[in-house]
Amino acid sequence: MSKILITGAAGFIGSQLAHRLYREKNEVVLVDDFSYGSEDNLIFEDADFRSSIHRKDIRDLEFMNSLFQKENFDIVYHIAGITPLPDCQIDPPKAVDVNVRGTVILLDLIRKYGVKKMIFASTSAVYENNKDFPSVEDHVEKPSLIYPSTKYTAEQYCRAYWDAYGIPVVVLRFANVYGPHIDCLRTQPPVMGYIIRENLLGNKPVLHSTGDQERDFIFVEDLIDLAVLVSKSEKYDTVNVSTNKTVSINTIANMIAAEMGCSDRGIDYADTSHYWYRYPALYEKPYPINEKLLENEVLKYTCLSNGHAKEAYGWTPKTSLEEGIRKTVEFCVRELKKAGVGK
Ligand SMILES: NC(=O)c1ccc[n+]([C@@H]2O[C@H](COP(=O)([O-])OP(=O)(O)OC[C@H]3O[C@@H](n4cnc5c(N)ncnc54)[C@H](O)[C@@H]3O)[C@@H](O)[C@H]2O)c1
Repeated sequence: MSKILITGAAGFIGSQLAHRLYREKNEVVLVDDFSYGSEDNLIFEDADFRSSIHRKDIRDLEFMNSLFQKENFDIVYHIAGITPLPDCQIDPPKAVDVNVRGTVILLDLIRKYGVKKMIFASTSAVYENNKDFPSVEDHVEKPSLIYPSTKYTAEQYCRAYWDAYGIPVVVLRFANVYGPHIDCLRTQPPVMGYIIRENLLGNKPVLHSTGDQERDFIFVEDLIDLAVLVSKSEKYDTVNVSTNKTVSINTIANMIAAEMGCSDRGIDYADTSHYWYRYPALYEKPYPINEKLLENEVLKYTCLSNGHAKEAYGWTPKTSLEEGIRKTVEFCVRELKKAGVGK
């Protein structure tokens, strides 16, 4: 049994990680400021974390210091972060403050209180400008957008704490994550959550692209298997969490529609730029955003090698896309109906 701190524990990934670690008989301590997470994510058949979670910002130094002093953690899973690309692009100082400074705050508390290791949630978005596929851990063309830049910078600090103090950190670069608890209620949900919600509302999902762009989607339970396995590492490591397979957004949309029994409704397509016009702050003069950058982001191809995860940790993703989509649809439809969305 270990005592484990999980930041971002009310979010999509953090909540399920907390549940898994709890079921494996660890003592879990959860922190989230609920800037994105939700209470619903904290309720499981055999556990309810709503009353025990600390509703705090990881940047609250007084609170975090007293928490580390009191709890004597073995491991920190640092999952909290500002994830939506538009939010990071609109408020870069805040994105840097949470994603970079927040990570350094945790690293420094780990150093100060002698925590054994940290596992850090990074992203495949750091490969935004890579041209060779599948992307491998030791080759990153420096990213251009704010979100991946913050994560890539935070990775550098993880490395700096390993170099200077020998604190083991495993950086996990997640591909596109999907599964139960994916957010389908927020204004701009991830693509699967969005498609499921529109289908349930009887609308045609609108893709701001041709839908032909291919991405690497990893099921959340497979991700968590690996997140648990890497906690055995005693050194610094960077690990892609991916299937090394790609699927187009059109195929995803069609699979979801088939699962929801609305295949004949179809999909609408819109100009890529229209997606971003919802964020007028990005187009303000004198420096309106480079539209090509946004277009590249929407149309980008992602495929991450998972050879290192397989060789170093004996991990392999187990969930087929069909099974993963079925479980995701089942969960989202239930949650959306509970929230009064759709019939
Ligand atoms: N979902 C994906 O496809 C994906 C892909 C790559 C990387 N990631 C990374 O994985 C992590 C989890 O992603 P997710 O999809 O679960 O996102 P999420 O938004 O559901 O969860 C992030 C959680 O962090 C919390 N948080 C944000 N700022 C905080 C702060 N200052 N203090 C305390 N809590 C704070 C939010 O309230 C939220 O509950 C993120 O760091 C994200 O960048 C996610």
